[in-house]
Amino acid sequence: MRRAKISIIGAGNVGATTAHWCAAAELGDIVLVDIPQTEDMPKGKALDLMQSSPVMGFDSNIVGTTSYEETAGSDVVVITAGIPRKPGMSRDDLLGTNAKIMTSVCEEIKKTSENAVVIVVSNPLDAMVQQAKHVTGFPAERVLGQAGVLDTARYRTFLAMELGVSVEDVSALLMGGHGDTMVPIPSCTSVGGIPVLQLIDEARLEEIVDRTRKGGAEIVGLLKTGSAYYAPAAATTQMVEAIVRDKKRLIPCAAYCDKEYGVGGYYVGVPVVLGSGGVEKIVELKLTDGEQAAFQKSIDAVKELVEVMATLV
Ligand code: APR
Repeated sequence: MRRAKISIIGAGNVGATTAHWCAAAELGDIVLVDIPQTEDMPKGKALDLMQSSPVMGFDSNIVGTTSYEETAGSDVVVITAGIPRKPGMSRDDLLGTNAKIMTSVCEEIKKTSENAVVIVVSNPLDAMVQQAKHVTGFPAERVLGQAGVLDTARYRTFLAMELGVSVEDVSALLMGGHGDTMVPIPSCTSVGGIPVLQLIDEARLEEIVDRTRKGGAEIVGLLKTGSAYYAPAAATTQMVEAIVRDKKRLIPCAAYCDKEYGVGGYYVGVPVVLGSGGVEKIVELKLTDGEQAAFQKSIDAVKELVEVMATLV
C-alpha cells in the first residue's frame, strides 16, 4: 500500500514539531516547506528528523524544500506558515501579514495538490481558513482549521490538574471561534462518564474555561519569543491521523458552516466527523439558550474578523 503524502508548509516551531509527531506515528511521507529566504533550513530539519528514524523506529521519507514541486499530489497539506504572536499581541494582530502569506501558499497548493485535504493552523485561525477556502476554491469539506482539538486539549489538561485525575478520563467540548469567544459546552463535558458539574462548581468551571480561553496568551507570555507549538502540533497530528487513516474521529474543528447552526458561510469551531474525505459530517447539537447566545457572539466575532481581512488582502 502506498504511504500517505503529508506536506507541511512553514517549517518553524509548529510545522517542524508536527512533522516530528507525524513521522513518529508513521502517518506517511513528509515534505517540509519554507520560504527561499530560509535557504537550507527545511532541508536541515528534514534530514535531522530522518536520522532519528533508526533510533525511534519509524519508516517515513522526510524531505525539506523551499519549492512546491516536491509537494505535488499531497493527500494532506498542513499550513503553519506565518508569523507567530509576541507578548502583548492578540491573534488578530497577525491578520494582514498572515492573510497575504496564506494567499500565496494557497495559490501554490491549488496548482500542485488539487485533491488534498487542507488543514490550516496559522492564526488568526478562523479568518485564515476562510482565506484558504477562498483562494484554493476547494470544496468546503476539504479545507478545515485546527483550533478545537487544541482548545479542548488545554481545557482537558486544566480539568485533570484541578481534579487530580488522568487526562484520559476527561472528555470535553468547546465550540466557536479560536479566541476569547470560545464557547464551553458543560453538558458535553464529563470525567469518567460523570457530568463535570457534579465534580466542580460552576464558578470554578468558569475560571478554568477562562484560563483555557487565554491558554495561548499564557504560553506567549512565558516564552516571550514566539507562541505555543507542542500542543498545537499534537492537535494537528491527531487531525492528520484521522484523515490518512480514515478514522472518522468525532472532534471539534473549524469547519465551514452555512446552514449548519445558521452560521451563513463562515468557519467556526463545531464537532465534526473527520475521515479521509475531510469533514464528512458536521454534528449539530441542541444548544441551551445561554450556549446559543455565546455561540452567536463567537460567530459575530469571526464575521467581523473576516470583514477586516477583506480590506487588507
Ligand atoms: N511560505 C512558507 N513558509 C512561510 C511563509 C510562506 N509564504 N511565510 C512564512 N513562512 C514560515 C517562516 O519562515 C517560519 O519558518 O513559517 C514559519 C513559521 O514558523 P514560526 O515563526 O516558528 O511560527 P510558529 O510558532 O510555527 O507559528 C506558525 O501557527 O499557531 C500558529 O499563531 C501561529 O500563525 C502562527 C503559525
